[in-house]
Amino acid sequence: MRYVLPWRSSVVGVWLARTVTIYIDEALKALADGDLDRAREAVRGGGTPLTAALAEHLEDVRSGSVYDQPAAFEAFINGGGNVGLYRAVTEALGQVYDRARPSSLLDIGCGDGRALLPALASGNAPAAVTLVEPSAALLDTAVRALDGFEIDARHTGVEPFAAALPEDAVFDVTQSTFALHTLPHEVRDGVLADLVGHVGVLAVVEFDVPDLPHASPEHRRFLAEAYERGLTEYDTDRALVAQGFLMPVLTGQLVPGATRATWEQPASRWAEQVTRAGFTDVEVTRLHDYWWSPAFLLTASGSPTAATRRR
Ligand SMILES: C[S@@+](CC[C@H](N)C(=O)[O-])C[C@H]1O[C@@H](n2cnc3c(N)ncnc32)[C@H](O)[C@@H]1O
Repeated sequence: MRYVLPWRSSVVGVWLARTVTIYIDEALKALADGDLDRAREAVRGGGTPLTAALAEHLEDVRSGSVYDQPAAFEAFINGGGNVGLYRAVTEALGQVYDRARPSSLLDIGCGDGRALLPALASGNAPAAVTLVEPSAALLDTAVRALDGFEIDARHTGVEPFAAALPEDAVFDVTQSTFALHTLPHEVRDGVLADLVGHVGVLAVVEFDVPDLPHASPEHRRFLAEAYERGLTEYDTDRALVAQGFLMPVLTGQLVPGATRATWEQPASRWAEQVTRAGFTDVEVTRLHDYWWSPAFLLTASGSPTAATRRR
């Protein structure tokens, strides 16, 4: 494990690091088995940011009071590695606009617009922007921030939106940042197939996660190392971020029956999937090293008839 702990340099320190690693692995294994008591026992006493956070979270699970803290997500998204991540994403999107010089843009799952808005400051940003976002609150925030643009805001998921596109609808650029992973893989296949004839350039930003069998020793090791890294990016607000966001997300990935919210995959599989839907000229560029996994930009060309139909 890559813990940076003061006692690591000594023989005793190495032994302690290995012991903590075993505790975390045992806790994650117990969570995957749905055995919260065993998980609690494994991390009792803490020892690293992750064991401490998990121990606290598992105590709170018993009282059922840790979920639904918007302040925690805000602290998470506005701090740590997200600052550099979003800077890299908006720069990359600006470069896509510079190359494509779009008149129209579709943003799928725009959220509150935090990736879109700075990108639109690029000199070649389009005037007409269509937003597709199922969260009314996030969509409202994005729309209010886009004063001066010609906005078509759709309060919906992308599935019905893409399926009902009029035949002559074209978006010179269609972008989606960290949102297409919210669709199950087979649903995403259908959405991409529905979109391909309506898109000039597709720009997708996601994380290049490793392909590991669920809850396998390699998967548990990946989760332990990544969350340990993620937590150390937060300091004074670490407890808020951990208890209100990161620990529920971690345990939600493992505990049987938890509602699944993400269907991530390696960048190579994203490239295969957009190709399968009919996109061409697929290019994947590594964007930013992030604690979870490296972020990448995938660009691809949609149907050439779609790209020229409106001209
Ligand atoms: C991690 S956020 C990313 C938001 C924004 N694109 C960004 O980069 O900050 C994922 C977004 O996907 C949206 N989303 C969830 N399900 C969706 C769906 N079926 N169609 C479109 N967007 C969806 C969520 O509401 C959320 O705003």
